[in-house]
Amino acid sequence: MTNSEVTEVGGYIGNFKVKVQKKAKYVTKDCTACGDCTKVCPVEVPNEFEVGLTGRKAIYIPFAQSVPAQYLIDEKSCIGLGENTCAKCKEVCGPGAIDFNDKTEEVELDVGTIIVATGLDVFDPVGLTEYGYLRFPNTITSLDFERLINAGGPTGGRLVRPSDMQLPKTVAFIQCVGSRAEKKGNPYCSNVCCMNTIKDALLIKEHWPDVKIYVFYIDIRAFGKGFEDLYRRAKEEGVIFIRGLPAELIEDKNSKNLWLVGENTLEKKIYTVDAGLVVLSVGLRPRDDSSKIQQLLRLSKTTDGFFMEAHPKLKPVDTPTGGVFLAGCAEGPKDIKDSVTQASAAAARAGILMAKGSVTVEAITPTMDSDKCMGCGLCERVCPYNAITVDKEKKVASVVEAACAGCGTCGAECSFDAIEMRHFTNEQIFAQIDAATEQDADKKIVAFCCNWCSYAGADFAGVSRMQYPPSVRIIRTMCSGRISPKFVERAFARGAAAVLVAGCHLNDCHYIDANYQTKRRVEKLWKKMERLGLDKNRLQLAWISAAEGEKFASKIKEMEKIVQGATKKEIEKTVECLGPKTVQMVAGVSNA
Ligand code: FES
Repeated sequence: MTNSEVTEVGGYIGNFKVKVQKKAKYVTKDCTACGDCTKVCPVEVPNEFEVGLTGRKAIYIPFAQSVPAQYLIDEKSCIGLGENTCAKCKEVCGPGAIDFNDKTEEVELDVGTIIVATGLDVFDPVGLTEYGYLRFPNTITSLDFERLINAGGPTGGRLVRPSDMQLPKTVAFIQCVGSRAEKKGNPYCSNVCCMNTIKDALLIKEHWPDVKIYVFYIDIRAFGKGFEDLYRRAKEEGVIFIRGLPAELIEDKNSKNLWLVGENTLEKKIYTVDAGLVVLSVGLRPRDDSSKIQQLLRLSKTTDGFFMEAHPKLKPVDTPTGGVFLAGCAEGPKDIKDSVTQASAAAARAGILMAKGSVTVEAITPTMDSDKCMGCGLCERVCPYNAITVDKEKKVASVVEAACAGCGTCGAECSFDAIEMRHFTNEQIFAQIDAATEQDADKKIVAFCCNWCSYAGADFAGVSRMQYPPSVRIIRTMCSGRISPKFVERAFARGAAAVLVAGCHLNDCHYIDANYQTKRRVEKLWKKMERLGLDKNRLQLAWISAAEGEKFASKIKEMEKIVQGATKKEIEKTVECLGPKTVQMVAGVSNA
């Protein structure tokens, strides 16, 4: 469905209801793509596909190979959609395919699985004033270059520089524009730019062997199959690689050539290179509208803004939302081969589900006690998967188990003990707290860690033989969102000297955004401790990734000092303030 937009997604795995807005094209299927209409259309606007290097008409075909091969009218630029305004296209259309009465319609689809393959945007280098993009006519981006050099592009594949449309004698490529740059761009490597430049450099050498080519780089990442060979071939064919990005570009006012000035960090020498055309190898970034898709499908994003997979190694094409898969650069920067591989994997994962026709639900979903439930709706509000619905009349909540991922944040939120998480029940966790604090509680740190990051971080510290105080007792939950304030209070009520709540970094939670609930709950507990005159330092919150074993070890070392500083009086006061209520709250649940 082209020229269409997904506006709403409801339901869950196997039962998604998707609303799609099919925008009016004003050209029917009878269009034979003869192109007579564009010849008479009087409107010309920049051609998006040619990145503005040429224009297009108000009635146009987005690009030569587009499927279906059918024209459409851009209603924003058309001077009048009607018989009485312009209608030149209608007059010349042989098959009578112009329909000014075409309307935008809404279509509802029932689908079992969804694959998100929404692609990417490229970094806009206008902010990097030292490179003068849009200020110097002969500074272009790698995307501009792709169109310029393409046989179907605006110059028919001729290599020319924009200032005088002549073949440049020297072409300079500047790598990592907007990539691997904390302050002026994105911190990550965009994965494809090194090989794209090498491909472009070889293409120039093949057609215009006399053109001198420079590549300025931080380091060349030629990691894929056959890539190192291409890199070697480029060097053999005379492409000059200089390590060290230019500090600035200076334009020669007469020739419009550009002087690139910088330091060759291998030779430790300052260079000045005169280039007729400069190509900025721009990095990749998530699409501007990815937040919209995130909300529609309740997806998570990583800190760099790309959609997060359910697990980087074991479920690289799944998302935390059951039945939704990722393909291509929506998940992270990748080249064509990797995108095709991931797309095939996503299609196969979706196909397996569809062929089976049923799903196995998580064994850790909640059970709802309708007698205890008051229908307050708090669980519904905090569920990252919209898996809970509250019947307003009956005042009772219920869970769609197929949509639930088992994070447990609903269980932590329920004040009426109406929600019990299978395999992570209150009873089980209280028993673990009690066991951890059975002896010398005043010397102990009770640490609640989420399964995916902080527990894995603690594990990493262990297998890496990192040293940290043995006073910590770790209790694992699937997500830090499961850590109910009652658990923290229980640990303090049992005389624990300190409590650590640890989870994945914010925006890295494996259950979309459940750890934001953790943050809110801990902040509330800190306020409560302050109000009661307790030392709130004894409750610590930390975001620790699976790779941050060192951070886990340091946190425990830091907390050991808090343990040693906690006086008997302070601990007794905490037991007094939090003890009776907590014990009463869990009476009959724990063996304490
Ligand atoms: Fe780690 Fe949610 S899974 S905080």
